[in-house]
Amino acid sequence: MARSVLCLLLLAAAHVQGRHEKYEGHQLYRVAGPAQEIGALEAHLDIISAIPAARSTSGQLEALVRLAQEDKQKWLLYFDQKQMSYTKIVDNLADIIRDEEAKIKRTKYAAKRNGKSISWDTYYGYEEINDYLDELGEQYPDMVTVMNPGLSYEGRQIKYVRISTTRFEDLRKPVIIIDACVHAREWITPAVALYIINQLVVDIVDNNLTERLDWVIIPLVNPDGYEYSITQDRMWRKTRSKAPGGTEECLGVDGNRNFDHYWGTSAASADPCSLIYEGPAPFSEPEIRVVRDVIVQNLDRAAMYISLHSYGSMFLYAWGNNGTLPSNGLALHVAGVRMATAIEELALEKADPYIVGNAANVLYNTTGTSRDWTRAVGIPFTYTLELPGYEYGFLLPPEYIEQIVKETWDGIAAGAHYILSLY
Ligand SMILES: *[C@@H]1O[C@H](CO)[C@@H](O)[C@H](O)[C@H]1NC(C)=O
Ligand SMILES: *[C@@H]1O[C@H](CO)[C@@H](O)[C@H](O)[C@H]1NC(C)=O
Ligand SMILES: *[C@@H]1O[C@H](CO)[C@@H](O)[C@H](O)[C@H]1NC(C)=O
Repeated sequence: MARSVLCLLLLAAAHVQGRHEKYEGHQLYRVAGPAQEIGALEAHLDIISAIPAARSTSGQLEALVRLAQEDKQKWLLYFDQKQMSYTKIVDNLADIIRDEEAKIKRTKYAAKRNGKSISWDTYYGYEEINDYLDELGEQYPDMVTVMNPGLSYEGRQIKYVRISTTRFEDLRKPVIIIDACVHAREWITPAVALYIINQLVVDIVDNNLTERLDWVIIPLVNPDGYEYSITQDRMWRKTRSKAPGGTEECLGVDGNRNFDHYWGTSAASADPCSLIYEGPAPFSEPEIRVVRDVIVQNLDRAAMYISLHSYGSMFLYAWGNNGTLPSNGLALHVAGVRMATAIEELALEKADPYIVGNAANVLYNTTGTSRDWTRAVGIPFTYTLELPGYEYGFLLPPEYIEQIVKETWDGIAAGAHYILSLY
C-alpha cells in the first residue's frame, strides 16, 4: 500500500518536472530569410510563429524557431550557410513555461468554475469547457443545441453548439462556422470561441446576429492534445494518435494539414515526427472528421468559416497551396479587412497591426488546411485567423485573455454584418 502510494507520488513528480525539463536550455531564435527557405524549415524545426515580410524589418520572412541545446550549433551553421540572419530572443524556454504556470496557478485555473458562470481571466480545461457547454444548452434550450458528434482518438467527447433563434429550421439563414484549438498549445482559441457563444446567447449585444444568422461553434477540436499540453507538454501542437506502424516517439498529426485539399503533395508534411505531419491519409484523425462532417452537414447554408489559431495577428485566405486567389479573392480580402479593422479599434497599442492576405503570399505554401478545403468545397468566406500573441506568442499570460476575446468578438461581429449585407 505505502509502496504504491510512493510510486504514484514519484510518477506525479516526474510528470510535473517533465513539463519544463523537456525545454530546459531550449532557446528561441528569430531567423530571417526568403519565404521558401523559412517554409522548408517547418518540417525539421518547431516554428513557433512566422512574421510576414510585410511586417518584418528585413523585408524577408521571419520565423521564431525553437532550438534544443544539442541541435543549436548545427542549425546556426545551417543558417550561416544559407545566409539567413538570426538573433536570440529567449535564453531558456523552460523559464517562460515556469512563469506561465505560476501565473495560471495564481488565477483560478487550479480551482473549479464558480457556479454557472465563466470568467475571462483564466484558462479552463477540457472537462470544464464541456460542462459549461452542457449547462448553456440546459439554460438556453430555445437557442443553444449541444451536439456530441464523436469522440477524439483517446475517447474524449468533441462537443459543438448550434446557436439559432429558429432551431436551424429556417433554411434561408446563412450559417457561420467557427472552430478552435485544432492546435493544442494555442490556448487562447477556445476562450475566444466561448466568448463568441457568450455574446450570442448570454450577454446578447445584437439580436440580428442570431435572428438572421445561424452559428456552429466547435470550441475544442483537439481535446486530447489540449489536455496533454496542460498536463504534460506545453508546446504540444498535434493530435495524440498513433499511426499504424508508427512509433511511440512520434505521436500525433497536425490537424490543419489533415484535410483533403492537396493532401500529400508536400514532402515537408510526410514525416510522422514533423510538427506539421499530415497523417497517414486525409481525414485520418477522428477530430478532423468531426470538423469535416459538421461542414458538410451545413454546406448548403454555410457562408463563412473561421478557424481560430494563435498567433500572428493575421486573417489568411486561400489558396494556401500555391498562392493564387479563388474566384472571389477580392471579396475575401474586403471581408477580412472589415474584420481586422474592427479589431484594430480595440487593439492594444503594443499589438502588431493585423495583416489580411493570401496565406501562401503572406507566409508560405501549406497543404491540407481547413481554410483551403472549406473554400474548395464551396464556403465562400473562409479564413485562418491568427490571434495576437504580443511578446508571448501562444504562451499568452491569462491577463490578456479578456482583451483578445473582446477585440476578436468585434471582428467576428463585423464579419457577420458583412455576410448579412450580402444575403
Ligand atoms: C508555392 O507553390 C507554388 C506552386 O506550386 C510554387 O510555384 C512556389 O514556388 C511555391 N512557393 C514556395 C515559397 O515554396
Ligand atoms: C438589425 O437589423 C435591422 C434591419 O436591417 C436594423 O434596422 C437594425 O439597426 C439592426 N440592429 C443592429 C443592432 O444592428
Ligand atoms: C492553385 O490551387 C488551387 C486549389 O487550391 C487550384 O484551383 C488552382 O488551379 C491552382 N493554381 C495553379 C496556377 O496551379
